[in-house]
Amino acid sequence: MSIIAENLTYIYMPGTPFERAALRDINLKIDEGEFVGIIGHTGSGKSTLIQHFNGLLKPTEGRVVINGMDTTGKELKELRRLVGIVFQYPEHQLFEETVYKDIAFGLRKQDLTEEEAREEILKAVEVVGLNEDILEKSPFELSGGQKRRVAIAGVLVMKPSILILDEPTAGLDPRGRDEIFGFITRIHKEMGITVILVSHSMEDIARLVDRVIVMNEGTIEMDGRIEEVFADIGRLESIGLSAPQVAYLMKRLKTICPGINEKVYTVSAARDELLKHLKGKGA
Ligand SMILES: Nc1ncnc2c1ncn2[C@@H]1O[C@H](COP(=O)(O)OP(=O)(O)O)[C@@H](O)[C@H]1O
Ligand SMILES: [Mg+2]
Repeated sequence: MSIIAENLTYIYMPGTPFERAALRDINLKIDEGEFVGIIGHTGSGKSTLIQHFNGLLKPTEGRVVINGMDTTGKELKELRRLVGIVFQYPEHQLFEETVYKDIAFGLRKQDLTEEEAREEILKAVEVVGLNEDILEKSPFELSGGQKRRVAIAGVLVMKPSILILDEPTAGLDPRGRDEIFGFITRIHKEMGITVILVSHSMEDIARLVDRVIVMNEGTIEMDGRIEEVFADIGRLESIGLSAPQVAYLMKRLKTICPGINEKVYTVSAARDELLKHLKGKGA
């Protein structure tokens, strides 16, 4: 499933004093199976952009085509099922009396027997790393991280071909964050689906995705492989962003040890590079 945006412009509340161009002339193509990160400041248009990918928002100008289907066309229902979006703070949308019913909610419109539905729900719960005894609990009894995972299971149970997550770890502690990123990485690898991760953490983006799209004031400022984008620290800084912290450390080290390769952007890659360098020096 590919995503194409052509000359996409979106204006909130056009013709009113509150008119606001949130996206301006966006062009992009995301291919099937890619793992793409979207970063940018608050207000740069990230959430507005992803809501175009399942037709929740319609372009003011230009078009969005998902797997050959224009989002303004009549296949909207199918499109909504194929593109699963986990919104920011998705736990705010849990409202049923049990976790089971919450995850089952999206399945209502599908032609499944009770048993088939149960099977799918059990699978989804397992993927997000929860125990099945959670199913009969009230969502309100759960921890923040558990609620978040239940909400994600509710999207996964629909078996989307494209999974979009808008700041999925916002407000979670490092452990909750690692658990969520763990299964997202697995889903991408094992199911081969297209995954789009919106985040403002350069560290998370650097260690998870292959390609990153940098948004700034409703436009795409940069779009490329992690190494390409993070190598241009000057450009990131010109729009008030920065590269992962470890990139700055490696740059400093390079001035002392010219032999090291400073083009690494994750802590684990930096560790490998430094060990290699030290071994080469007979340390
Ligand atoms: N529902 C809305 N009504 C009016 N303006 C909005 C709405 N949602 C977002 N905006 C504006 O559109 C711009 C882009 O917002 P958004 O897509 O939420 O950015 P991000 O997700 O990168 O923080 C911002 O200027 C924001 O204030
Ligand atoms: Mg947002």
